[in-house]
This record gives sequence, C-alpha cells and structure tokens, in this order.
Amino acid sequence: MIKLSPSILACDFSKLGEEIKKVELAGSQYIHLDVMDGIFVPNISFGVPVIQSIRPMSNMVFDTHLMITDPIRYIETFAKIGSDIITFHYESCENHIEVIDKIHSAGKKAAISIKPKTPAFVIESLIDKVEMVLVMTVEPGYGGQAFIPETINNIKAVKQMAQIHNPQLDIEVDGGITLDNIEIVTQAGANVIVAGSSVFKAPDINERVKEFLKY
Ligand code: DX5
Ligand code: ZN
Repeated sequence: MIKLSPSILACDFSKLGEEIKKVELAGSQYIHLDVMDGIFVPNISFGVPVIQSIRPMSNMVFDTHLMITDPIRYIETFAKIGSDIITFHYESCENHIEVIDKIHSAGKKAAISIKPKTPAFVIESLIDKVEMVLVMTVEPGYGGQAFIPETINNIKAVKQMAQIHNPQLDIEVDGGITLDNIEIVTQAGANVIVAGSSVFKAPDINERVKEFLKY
C-alpha cells in the first residue's frame, strides 16, 4: 500500500488546522510541508511558525520539502520544530553528503529531491545514504500544475538504482498527482505519493484520501 502525503500548499489557510485533521482522520500517514524561499524557486510559501503551530495537533509523519538555497543552514531548525523527514534538493547545494549527515545527526530521515530536468543518475552515489528520494513530477514552485509524463523515466531510474544500492529506499513523487496518474507512478516504482490540489480541492477530502489509499 502507498503512503499518502497531502501537501498543505493546497489548503485553505484560513482553515489549516481543520483540513489537516480531516486528512489525518481519513487515514493519511504523512503530511507534506513545502518550504519555499523565493530564490531556489520563484515562489515564497511558509516556514517555521506555521509548521511549529501545527506540530502539536497531529501525529502524522511531518514530511518537510525544503525548496531553499543552501539548505544546510536550516537543517537543525526544521529538525527541532518536529520534521520527521527532511528533503533537500540536489540542485540547491554542492555539499550533499554534509547535508545528509546533518539531517541524520539530528535524528531525522534524509531525502534528496531531483527536479524534472535533472537526470536521475546524478544521485546514484547518494542512494545508499538516504531513506527516501523525491522525484519531482512538476517544476517545483507552485501547486496545481500538470504532471510531466517524461518524469516517469526518473522514477524508473531511481527504482533501478535502489534495487542495486538500497532496496529499502522509499520513492516519493510530487506534483500533479491525481487518481488518473497514480497507477503509472506506482507501477514505475513510487510508494510515497504527494497530492496537494487533488486532495484539498476535492469536493470531499475524506473520501478522496480513502480513494488514494486503495493503491
Ligand atoms: C511544488 C510542491 C508540491 C505541490 C504539489 O513545488 O513541491 O508539493 O504542493 O501540489 P499539487 O499536488 O497540486 O501539484
Ligand atoms: Zn513538495
């Protein structure tokens, strides 16, 4: 069974607490937190105070996706406020191993992410050092974009590398995932599914989460 990680970027922020409760009660195991700095990606989202205020109300796995330049500066902060998984971008820094070590020293799970145009082979030497790889299926920066079909190649390539170097690796996909394409990404090897708009903009959030969790 997949793990679902609804992205709060698609929430109605005036009802943030309520909407998070809904996905948790419906059975979602993770909650996806998109932190954007306006430099690594063209958009600014939210950061520490928002995550801090929702942490005490939920037992879901806090899946923090850092879309920020030079992420090592903020690893301790996001660990301290209760992230369980910290994902950073391959393209956002050069000191990948140092960042991974810092996440592990803080007692958290480490994940590395690649943008759609980054070929998966660049992370081959890191596959056995992380718990998860996040394959972006849209250009990072905004919710509500259409899934890029070519990213299937990256999912398959990460799966192949995982079979060789780290069979336990989780493979997460993020961007434009719906009930119409979930099967293609899971068949390619993904087992952690981020879904923003398709969960929080659904007519019935509870029902939509349950539909995703059938996969
Ligand atoms: C995009 C973010 C995604 C986004 C997904 O940069 O990383 O997590 O919120 O939203 P949807 O599912 O609407 O594409
Ligand atoms: Zn994300």
